Amino acid sequence: MNEDTFAFLLGPAGSDALARLAAEDLSNAHTLALLNVLRRELPPEQAGAALTLARLREHAAAKFSRAGTMFFTPEALEQASGEVIAAWRARRFAEAGFARVADLGCGIGGDTLALAALPGVWVAGLDRDPLRLRLARANVRAYGYDAGWLAANLTDPLPLHGIPAAFFDPARRDKGRRVFSVRDYQPLLDAIRAWTFDALAVKLSPGVALDELAPYTGAGAGVEFISVAGELKEAVLWMGAFGFAGRCATRLNADGSAATLAPAGLPAPPLSEPRAYLYEPDPAVIRAGLFGELAAEIGAGVYRLDETIAYLTGDTALDSGWLRTWPVEAWLPFHLKRLRAALVERGVGRVTVKKRGSPIAPETLQAQLRLDGAGRPAVVVLTRVAGQHCALICGEPLGRER
Ligand SMILES: C[S@@+](CC[C@H](N)C(=O)[O-])C[C@H]1O[C@@H](n2cnc3c(N)ncnc32)[C@H](O)[C@@H]1O
Repeated sequence: MNEDTFAFLLGPAGSDALARLAAEDLSNAHTLALLNVLRRELPPEQAGAALTLARLREHAAAKFSRAGTMFFTPEALEQASGEVIAAWRARRFAEAGFARVADLGCGIGGDTLALAALPGVWVAGLDRDPLRLRLARANVRAYGYDAGWLAANLTDPLPLHGIPAAFFDPARRDKGRRVFSVRDYQPLLDAIRAWTFDALAVKLSPGVALDELAPYTGAGAGVEFISVAGELKEAVLWMGAFGFAGRCATRLNADGSAATLAPAGLPAPPLSEPRAYLYEPDPAVIRAGLFGELAAEIGAGVYRLDETIAYLTGDTALDSGWLRTWPVEAWLPFHLKRLRAALVERGVGRVTVKKRGSPIAPETLQAQLRLDGAGRPAVVVLTRVAGQHCALICGEPLGRER
């Protein structure tokens, strides 16, 4: 998309084409037919742009409740924060009483619109890409909000005055590929050293290496790991007035509810051989390393299988949003033939394989087990118990799926 195609998409002819496409089946099989119809009235590049945006709006419905009226490019949509997680972060700015906030690297406005939705908060969106700023303005308007917009390079002195708090979302992709080190972010994470906000939040990739954050965490910043519906989505560095000691874990549930586990310096649970149940903590808890805090939250005896493995075990059928639970039927040191015999003996004909800390690929084990498919299902968990490679034979997971 360029400025001209965006002007077309925003105008009456573009709106009309997009409204018609919204009612169509946009799957690849229909591309030619759809383009043929559109090209009767529109030049080819405008027809193509309308179809691309209509498809992006469909994809964007997973992130935005008003996706059907918003504007995206493929890469900018990929990078955009979804509504649920952006609202969760934005809420901290209002709670801290900031009335003026900057959204640095605002892209197509996923975070700007969450900040602009806060009562009494005014937001300035900054990005170096003028087209993204225009898309962001249209997207914020799609929600009935307004914001200020500035084209600026964040590595230059910021053209901001009297704004005490900021949210910074550096790009974590280069030519479509994810980058993992904060030294490869665009702009570099180090850009924040030049800024003097009273409070700053920075979105990071969930796999961020904690030692790369040491200069900031050592100076009072806290790290929050966030999962949505059981999937680890991001890490946030909370600095200045937002800072806290250590790492916390937040889970945002599909129903919009949320819970946070705060660091309390509790020791990790003791070690044990597998007991009646296997637990897998929410990935945000695992990344935050809050196993002791999780045990305290749950209030039941839980144990670790191994110093280095995130599976827990215990005697209680736990039903908590913080973990998933499987009943353990048997366990044994890993040995292919013995595992196969144990499964056959139990009438198991097909397995789902999970693993942590095992070099064996689940598909490889499934093929090697040569089960006949006719017996009952089971879950085989490959992991380490006190340093030894083991297999646990488990039943189906208990309780709700998140
Ligand atoms: C991850 S995206 C932001 C996504 C945004 N939070 C959203 O929800 O739509 C990062 C943005 O940073 C911008 N950016 C990268 N380097 C920049 C720089 N040096 N100065 C200003 N903006 C920059 C990119 O244009 C991109 O829009």
